[in-house]
Amino acid sequence: MLVHEIRNRTTAFGSFLEFIKSRFGPFKNKDIEREYRCADNAINTLERLADTFAPLASRAFRRRKRHSILEDQIRECLALQQAEIKKKNIRCRVPDSETHVAADPGEVDAIILNLITNAIYWLGDVPKENRELEFRLVSINNGDRVRVWINDTGPGLDADDVEKVFWPGVTRKPGGIGMGLTVASELVAAYGGRMSTKHPGTKGGASFAFDLPVRK
Ligand SMILES: Nc1ncnc2c1ncn2[C@@H]1O[C@H](COP(=O)(O)OP(=O)(O)O)[C@@H](O)[C@H]1O
Ligand SMILES: [Mg+2]
Repeated sequence: MLVHEIRNRTTAFGSFLEFIKSRFGPFKNKDIEREYRCADNAINTLERLADTFAPLASRAFRRRKRHSILEDQIRECLALQQAEIKKKNIRCRVPDSETHVAADPGEVDAIILNLITNAIYWLGDVPKENRELEFRLVSINNGDRVRVWINDTGPGLDADDVEKVFWPGVTRKPGGIGMGLTVASELVAAYGGRMSTKHPGTKGGASFAFDLPVRK
């Protein structure tokens, strides 16, 4: 709801900026050019912020489903990012088990997509032949919950960030907003779970984990 309200306004502002540019651009005056770019960046950031929060914000208004198959959701999310994965030559591994969890597929996607898009981005920092993204599932709490590990061979987290990556606004990505992991970990918490990271990661890069209730 709130996200929708924000989105309506940012779209209006975005259209206004487009109009100004088409009518008066390209700007010869450097100051105007700079101010315009500043406003354009601000709108883009606001839009991304609203999009990042959408899955959390809609929780209260949406009827949530209580069943998804983890491996299917993982494969779906990877398929969504396939173009980028191919372009960057990233090898992905997903277990061929079938784990039923008591969680909404849309929310599971939001959690996984955040982790995948981060990994894809940061894997760009290492040589092409060394780009791997691996999912591992571990049964915990006597089979009541499943822990999902996502390990990559990217540059990994900065040691200083290990404690802080889930805090809002922490980012090392140019133009990043640092809300992805915050929102993902809130969604996991809504299912009584926890998101964590291991440093150094299992495959030399970053490792993130989260757990969800198994559907019995
Ligand atoms: N797979 C990863 N490899 C290396 N660093 C990561 C990875 N995932 C997250 N990070 C670090 O955590 C920060 C926060 O991530 P996130 O909350 O998704 O925000 P953003 O992607 O906007 O930076 C990133 O900027 C990066 O420094
Ligand atoms: Mg992110």
